[in-house]
Parts: sequence; structure tokens; C-alpha cells
Amino acid sequence: DVLLVLNGPNLNLLGERDPEQYGRDTLADIEGAVRTRASSHGFEVDFRQSNYEGELISWIQETRGKVAGLVFNPAGYSHTSVAIADALDLFDAPIVEVHLSNIHKREPFRHHSYVSAVASGVIAGLGAHGYELAVDAVARLAGR
Ligand code: DQA
Repeated sequence: DVLLVLNGPNLNLLGERDPEQYGRDTLADIEGAVRTRASSHGFEVDFRQSNYEGELISWIQETRGKVAGLVFNPAGYSHTSVAIADALDLFDAPIVEVHLSNIHKREPFRHHSYVSAVASGVIAGLGAHGYELAVDAVARLAGR
């Protein structure tokens, strides 16, 4: 079974982007940790990043019915995208939303996420480790 891991805009710059907030791990580091954790649950991983809202939506639509679960850091789109939330609403597998930073401790515009309303659960503020916890959560939700 495949676990889909989606990353939204600017997460390709992890490592150099505001390390105080997001840590020093690169997205490739996170991908490695996610793959190790997922394989311990017997999952293969499809790991992607996009800076484009429409591309993320197309990926959500195309993988519908084909993956066991989704780990998703929608990044800035969390706070703005009704369209991504609408696409996720049609997704038929468990969804765990991840944020590296604790969005509730930050600027008020980051406190609300459209994605949270359609996610099974949300992990925020635990840095890159949050992705590994999200993999564990999706595995459990998917019945592993
Ligand atoms: C983020 C938090 C968002 O507010 C921000 O726009 C990001 C990253 C996080 O992982 O902490 O790009 O999703």
C-alpha cells in the first residue's frame, strides 16, 4: 500500500527557510525519515512538493482511491485555500495535516486552517518529528 505525502509551497526551501521556526532539516531529510517510518508499517511512500495550488489539487484528485492515506503539510495554503479543502473532502482515505511550527503560537492569520475541517487529525509544532508521528497516525487509521 502507498502512503501519499504532500508538501505545499516554500517547503522546498526547508533548511534555509527561517530555521528558528521550521528547523534545520531539509525536505530531503524529512523524506528520508518518512520513508524509514512508513516502511516499518509496510507502506511505500509517494513523496511530493509543489508551489502550485492547482497541482496539489490535481494530485489529490488523481490519487483518490489509490492510496491508503495522506500526510499533508499544505503550508501557506492551509490558511487560504477553500479549493484544496474541497478536493480533500472527496478524498476517501485518512488525512493527517502536519505543520512543523505551532501555528497557534504564531500570527493570528495562521491560527485557522481550512484543511483541518476535512482532516482526520492535525499535528503542529513538533518540527520534522511531526511527519513521523503523522505516518504512525495514518498507519493506525488505515488499520495497520
Ligand atoms: C507551515 C505553517 C504555515 O503557516 C506556513 O505558511 C508554512 C509552513 C508549517 O509547517 O509550520 O509554509 O505549514
